[in-house]
Order: sequence, then C-alpha cells, then structure tokens
Amino acid sequence: MAIESVLVIGSGTMGRGIAQVAATSGLKTYLYDAAAGQLKAAAGEIEKSVAKLAEKGKLTAEQAANGKKGLTVCESLDAVGWGDVGLAVEAIFENFEAKTGLYKQLGARLKKDAILASNTSSISITKLATATDRPAKFIGMHFFNPVPLMALVEVIRGLATDDATCETIEGLAKRMGKTPLRCNDMAGFVSNRVLMPMINEACFALMEGVASEKNIDEIMKLGCNFPMGPLTLADFIGLDVCLNIMEVLQRELGDPKFRPCPLLRKMVDAGRMGRKSGRGFYDYSQKA
Ligand code: 3HC
Repeated sequence: MAIESVLVIGSGTMGRGIAQVAATSGLKTYLYDAAAGQLKAAAGEIEKSVAKLAEKGKLTAEQAANGKKGLTVCESLDAVGWGDVGLAVEAIFENFEAKTGLYKQLGARLKKDAILASNTSSISITKLATATDRPAKFIGMHFFNPVPLMALVEVIRGLATDDATCETIEGLAKRMGKTPLRCNDMAGFVSNRVLMPMINEACFALMEGVASEKNIDEIMKLGCNFPMGPLTLADFIGLDVCLNIMEVLQRELGDPKFRPCPLLRKMVDAGRMGRKSGRGFYDYSQKA
C-alpha cells in the first residue's frame, strides 16, 4: 500500500522531528497535539530547523518548501484529513494507559487499512497492539533524536504484525531518507538494550570516582569515536528517559546487569534531567 499522508500525534522533541521529516519528504503531514502551546512551539522549531538544513544544503529548495506547504498543525483531531491518512505515528509520552487511550480515539477515525505505529522507546509493541483495533497493522517505528539528522528507523515487529505492514513501513522510512532496520519485540529493542547499559555504566564510573564527567566523555569520544560522550548524550536524551528505560530492561529481562545506577536515580530525584531542565551531569543554565 502506498502511503501519501501521515498523521503524527505528539509535538514534543520526537513528534515534531518526525513530522518535519515526513513533510520535507513530500508526504502530506498532519501534526496533532492536545496542548496548543506546545504545538505552536513545535511549528516554530520545525520552521527554524528546515531553514537551517536548507541553508547548509542538506535540504533542496523543493524539500524545504514541502516542509511548509505539506505540514498542517491540528489543535483538534477533527482538523485531520482522516480520508487521506495511511499511517498514524504516535509519539506521546511513555505511558501505557495514555497511549492505549489515544489508540481508541484513533481507531474510531482511521481508515480500516491504515497503519498505526508507535515511536515508543521501551513499551512492548505486542502489548500495545492488543489495545488497538488492528494488531496486524500495528508496528514500532522508533526514530532517533535529533530526528532530522539521524539516519536510523528501528522497525519493531510485534507478535501479530503482518509482513505487508513491515514492508510498507520500511518503504516509507526509506522515502523519509532513513535506513529502516528490523528487529523483534523485546525490551529496549536493539538500540536501547545496547546504548542504555553503556550510559548506565558511565554513571557507575562517575559514581565510583573512576574519572570526572569531562574525562569519561572525552575518553569515549576520542578513544571510540563517539560523536558525544555518554554523559553528554544522557543529558541530551533526558536522565528521566534513561532511568525509565533501564527500569524497563531490569523488569522485563530480569538480569541484574540492568540495575539502574544509584547516581542516575539520585539525579532524577533531584530534578536534574539534563538539557531540558537546565542541569544534568553538566550545567546548561547559561545556554540559550
Ligand atoms: N534540525 C536542524 N539542525 C539541527 C537539529 C535539528 N533538529 N539539531 C541539531 N542541529 C544542528 C545544530 O544546531 C548544529 O548546527 P550548527 O553546526 O550550525 O551549530 C548542528 O546540527 C550540530 O552540529 P555539531 O557540529 O554539533 O554536530 P554534528 O553535526 O557533528 O552532529 C549530532 C550532531 C548528529 C547530534 C551528533 O552529535 C550525534 O550523532 N550525537 C549522538 C546522538 C544520538 O546518539 N542520538 C540517539 C539518542 S537515543 C534515542 O534517540 C533513542 C531514544 O529511544 C532514547
């Protein structure tokens, strides 16, 4: 099935990035959020990001124009062109009840053959699918932050997801300029199962006084060619997000090697969430 129109639900960091890339790829894109203020901020950020990428020559004039004319921001679900939408990508916060409540509203409006995808980083696709009216057409489409710059879409197949849905989503991810890579539905999928224990171990190294924040990061940057050190990356992702994913890995896989670092927990308890709160392992309070 060829998809020409996409609905993205949730206009936070991930949702706005997904909507931006969908629109610049020439897809008719709707971005919906119940929070009007956040939606307005998202529209402004998308415009800035598209302009910056065009200026750097990373988007053609046509793609940049698509970013504007192809995107419709919707404060209400009634403003979405439901007859067009072939794919809805849910990118709201990581809460099972909130996501499944939303799927009920979407199921009543989406075309029968439309695909429903979640950008969840940690909740089981198989379990989420059971709360939808279309488990065979439900799939994980996991994007990476910052979405316009990151090449990967991790495509997660739930137990009930059918072949046609996997193939359609892989084709669409390619059209969005991404490389789709498939994996099965296990806690953390591949990306977060490998990345988060590495970040968690960097927290242990800091807690145990192996080195300073800066040296842990520089050692991994210069010694392993990481674009960002693990503590900088943790601040970028959000320490609450990292902790939540470690808790999921520990609970679902039951192996003590996934025990969240007490320092990570302490940082979250103190409200030091990283960039978004102005402080994490580093201080961002002076930065714009
Ligand atoms: N749109 C447009 N431009 C953007 C942007 C966006 N959304 N986000 C950042 N940029 C721009 C910056 O403004 C900056 O512009 P400037 O050069 O004019 O100042 C530029 O991109 C960044 O340039 P840098 O020289 O700092 O860095 P690079 O271009 O070399 O790379 C990066 C930036 C791609 C973010 C790189 O640092 C990187 O790959 N970091 C690791 C990111 C990562 O691992 N992400 C995955 C997180 S895990 C995840 O998302 C999964 C989830 O489930 C937790």
